[in-house]
Amino acid sequence: MQVINRIDQMKDLIRDIRRQGKTVGFVPTMGYLHEGHLTLMRTAKRKTDFVAASIFVNPLQFGVGEDYEDYPRDLSRDTELAEGAGVEAIFAPAVRDMYPPGYATFVEVEKLTGKLCGRSRPGHFRGVTTVVTKLLNIVEPDIAFFGQKDAQQVIVLQKMAQDLNMNVEIEVVPTVREQDGLAMSSRNTYLAPAEREAALVLSRSLDMAAKLVDSGERNIPFLKSEVTEFITGEPLAKIDYVDILSVPDLEERETLEGKALLALAVYIGKTRLIDNVILTV
Ligand code: PAF
Repeated sequence: MQVINRIDQMKDLIRDIRRQGKTVGFVPTMGYLHEGHLTLMRTAKRKTDFVAASIFVNPLQFGVGEDYEDYPRDLSRDTELAEGAGVEAIFAPAVRDMYPPGYATFVEVEKLTGKLCGRSRPGHFRGVTTVVTKLLNIVEPDIAFFGQKDAQQVIVLQKMAQDLNMNVEIEVVPTVREQDGLAMSSRNTYLAPAEREAALVLSRSLDMAAKLVDSGERNIPFLKSEVTEFITGEPLAKIDYVDILSVPDLEERETLEGKALLALAVYIGKTRLIDNVILTV
């Protein structure tokens, strides 16, 4: 396992791996790895010959007053966990190398980023698409792996890869959950014990909606109001958004048809959590 900080060294390593005729899998992360990330890494190991992961808390995707400074970081623990999951190289660049003084280039996917998290976190997806483009240019993987937990992120990144004719396949891996249903997230570490219990309202509300759909419900405004009411019943929860949109265009609809994304963002105390389910009829 190698930990590489410098961009030129990472490019040299990948050039060497390519010369050996190996395929490259890549898992971009912001670190503080959990089972969700490790599942991405193990999937990458099964599908490609050489797996690289990045650990970079990207300042560009955090808004003013968000948790960039407080975001949990632990590189030595992450290195050990990633190695156990089959990662052979970790790329952990410095902010000043990724965004040197005078940095001026940004990648923006329009339309899709004006909804859901894009509405409550202006500039967030511009930060994500810019950093992911840079990382993909440095690592040049055959396949890059992302979690379904960040549903809008994967839709935006797939659109970006398609629109910019990138030579990479964006592979989406199902959300990994704690035994009680809470979606794994590095931000779960912020939750006090009572908040951890209250956070179950997210996955439970999604289960409730999926059951309504299974039993024949197709009315989107009704489904949204049921989910909203369910979450409002939890005193520690404050809804940022509850939405049901078509996939992959993220358009509003009145009636469920084909595939739709039910996505939530909910504050539990000060911690903003997201979760989603794909409803298929
Ligand atoms: O999903 C994340 O952790 C981040 O948004 C990503 C893709 C690593 C870009 O910083």
